Amino acid sequence: MATITFSNPAYKDKIVYATAGSHTDTILRIARENKIPINFDCNNGECASCVVKVTRFESKTPMAGPLTEKEKTVLLGLGKITQAEVEQMAVDDFPTPWRLACQVIARDEDILVEY
Ligand code: FES
Repeated sequence: MATITFSNPAYKDKIVYATAGSHTDTILRIARENKIPINFDCNNGECASCVVKVTRFESKTPMAGPLTEKEKTVLLGLGKITQAEVEQMAVDDFPTPWRLACQVIARDEDILVEY
């Protein structure tokens, strides 16, 4: 079971346990179930209101796992990632810490979510 530590300067850090492998439990869904106030609007990867920074808890390296096409489009539009990084992701799974909470699925690794 993975732990997700939600962190925001305005709130006390909150650690929740997530069951990995459901393929449906997004970070946003887990946050909402635990009353963590991550901003969101569309819940469909289109509005960019749920941008979070996701890193592995121990190493602070970006969480593994590819970005969805919606994440690529929105994060490019926000300037959180570059076209060169998107192209590098296609070749070698280059990770970025920037994710859309409504799109990224919890994996079996302890992560830090900054919102
Ligand atoms: S809630 Fe709109 S992109 Fe995530």
